[in-house]
Amino acid sequence: MAHLLRLLKAKERPLPTRGLGDKCGWETENVKGPRLEQDFCCETDGEASGSSTTLEAALNLRIVGSEDNELRILEDSQGIWANGNGATIWDSALLLADFLRHQPALGRLPGSGLRALELGAGLGLVGLTLAKLGAQVVATERALALPLLRRNVAENSLDDAVRVEELFWGSKHMPTWVYDSAPFDIVVGSDLIWPGNADCIVDLVETLSVVVGPATSCWLAYEPRASATDEALLASLRAAHFRVRRLQGQELPADAPEDLWILHLEAEPK
Ligand SMILES: C[S@@+](CC[C@H](N)C(=O)[O-])C[C@H]1O[C@@H](n2cnc3c(N)ncnc32)[C@H](O)[C@@H]1O
Repeated sequence: MAHLLRLLKAKERPLPTRGLGDKCGWETENVKGPRLEQDFCCETDGEASGSSTTLEAALNLRIVGSEDNELRILEDSQGIWANGNGATIWDSALLLADFLRHQPALGRLPGSGLRALELGAGLGLVGLTLAKLGAQVVATERALALPLLRRNVAENSLDDAVRVEELFWGSKHMPTWVYDSAPFDIVVGSDLIWPGNADCIVDLVETLSVVVGPATSCWLAYEPRASATDEALLASLRAAHFRVRRLQGQELPADAPEDLWILHLEAEPK
């Protein structure tokens, strides 16, 4: 039932091809959770290759949201834009976007001026949702993912509200703009950790420790896949002095799938 509701939430036209796994964030094989290729650890210039006609032809359009928060999200399930790394919207992103659309506290007026940061934005659904609610958003990703992320910002004519930046987690990779802008009013991320990249937990938590301050609203949507990874993430967040709470019951959207979590993080004052 929950799965059906999730499918209904994203009106899809046409159905994305599923050549590289049945659900695909940056996934190339039939693995539980996305797998990052060796370029995960090395620098790539992030430039999409191929003619613009080929690149455009690879995209499938999904309409997500409704009324004044409808977004056009372009997916590339075959990975034409990113060296074989397919990119579609993950269920966690759909849930978090839905949750944010129903947060009365997030100023809905254009120009509310809230400063938001999205980590591991993928196609940018969550950050674009915040931009539609009036926030000024920095949507961040690995270099490999930036061209399609930028394409999605342009597709929604949100270039004035969303800045796209490369951000690889961990203090070793932290550009100065991150320190200059931190802490943000809102920090979000969806499906950032899974068993295949559990060794990135420390880096992610290091980044969160910089960008989340005591007054930041931080929500991470998470798909628990293996208890060892789930526990390692929670333990690492708590060790870094975050109060972590899983949203429950009426805090969640009415049809929220039971197998996905939204974690609310609060940074303890230093
Ligand atoms: C499963 S995808 C989720 C994408 C998007 N948030 C969504 O829910 O649709 C995980 C994303 O995290 C990004 N990511 C993984 N490890 C990262 C790292 N160490 N630094 C920055 N981004 C990373 C990947 O590039 C990928 O786009």
